[in-house]
Amino acid sequence: MSATAFIPPYPPRHTRPLGLLGSIRKFRGSMLDIWSERAFSADFFSSRVLRRTVFICNSPETVRETFVEQAAAFERKSPQMRFALEPLLGDGLFVSDGETWRARRRAVAPVTHASRMAELAPVMTEVAAEWHARWSATPAGGEFDALEEMAEMTAEVICRTLFGRSLGSDAAASVVHAFSAYQARIGQSALGAMMGLPEWVSRLGNIAASREAKRIHKVLDALIADVLRNPDGDASLVRALAALQAMEPWALRNEAATLFMAGHETTANTMAWAWFLLANSPASAARLRDEARAVLGGRAAGHDDVPNLPYARAVIEETLRLYPPVPVLAREALVDTKVAGTPVPRCSLLLVVPWLLHRNPRLWEQPDHFRPERFIEGQPIRYSYVPFSIGPRVCTGQQFGMVESVICLATLAQNFAPAMKPGHVVQPVSRLTLRPGAHLPMLLQRA
Ligand code: HEM
Repeated sequence: MSATAFIPPYPPRHTRPLGLLGSIRKFRGSMLDIWSERAFSADFFSSRVLRRTVFICNSPETVRETFVEQAAAFERKSPQMRFALEPLLGDGLFVSDGETWRARRRAVAPVTHASRMAELAPVMTEVAAEWHARWSATPAGGEFDALEEMAEMTAEVICRTLFGRSLGSDAAASVVHAFSAYQARIGQSALGAMMGLPEWVSRLGNIAASREAKRIHKVLDALIADVLRNPDGDASLVRALAALQAMEPWALRNEAATLFMAGHETTANTMAWAWFLLANSPASAARLRDEARAVLGGRAAGHDDVPNLPYARAVIEETLRLYPPVPVLAREALVDTKVAGTPVPRCSLLLVVPWLLHRNPRLWEQPDHFRPERFIEGQPIRYSYVPFSIGPRVCTGQQFGMVESVICLATLAQNFAPAMKPGHVVQPVSRLTLRPGAHLPMLLQRA
């Protein structure tokens, strides 16, 4: 146990019930703000939100029961998630269910599987080396936005992986901007869906998002057509998907959009949070730097280095525990069923909330402290750590995200130790993903 470890920020935890209006007001700000102190240590509880009952699973047993043993009953994503993402992803893997989901999962899972990492990692190494050169060319101590910087870096990785290494930076930038504009449009429709308002109310809020989605579809269609027109071009996920299974062009585009969306911001947020946590934990930053220098000796990390960088991995794992990029996993019950012996009627909403589960004091020692060592000293209790979800709908990009984060973090930490900008206050906020606010200004110090 460490008495000196850094306790990173979290929203105040209220001790008395907020009431309906209070909860709605908080929810509009950030999904992290609605939880009471008691919610963190409760195993299983429910709450009535207007027309809908919401059940929250917060113990390893209830997580296993719902996401693994009763995965079929809880395979449908929440209406909130579907309304927010359907205009963009259509029937893509992330939002679909039933036979469509099964068919797409069979197509997408193999191309991003752990066994393909050695083939995919060189793009990560290449981008990490480029970012090392870019940071080296930046004056020491200069201010930069770590969130934007990491979003650009992970967008380069996923774009080159999806469409090939020769994809121009203009094309990558146009994909990134189009996705950001879409994100800015969604949100309000989610609140209506959460409360069980009629579907048309939520869909109305999506009109502007649909316009943005059409712009993204045009960009993606053109990139995919380019990839497929040139059979001798670079290896890429789009090419692998097209080769593996005959897919209609729109289905291929929906999966490309899914992979971009699922793989870009999640990893970017993880990396930004990791720099923030390290900036506030000098001992962890020094241990990471020493490990990275000893293993890499100045060069960029490759796939073979990852097993030799256990502390870098532990930093990422601890970052994902404290700030899980997807802080709420929400499902709609497809049938009447029971969880922990309690009746759960069809159409209720069921949540596994990594934000709560990962900080449950009954499962974690010093749950609010940043202590990467905990992942070296032992493994978490099964089903108590689910940053990538768990069960049949587990993230297909789990290995991709981990390997990418370790490669980029270790490569850069050899020579750089971003520091906090004095006076800037960080608070986690969550809409679809959990971020350190809209920006994370830091100073680019040399290590
Ligand atoms: C640190 C990085 C990442 C985190 C924390 C993360 C987390 C998650 C989570 C929690 C889910 C389940 C969401 C839910 O149940 O509502 C998910 C699904 C998914 N992720 Fe990731 N992800 C990451 C990186 C990636 C990457 C790099 C890719 C692709 C290259 C990817 C592709 C997907 C796909 C396709 C799904 C949908 C799977 C399905 O529904 O069957 N993810 N991810």
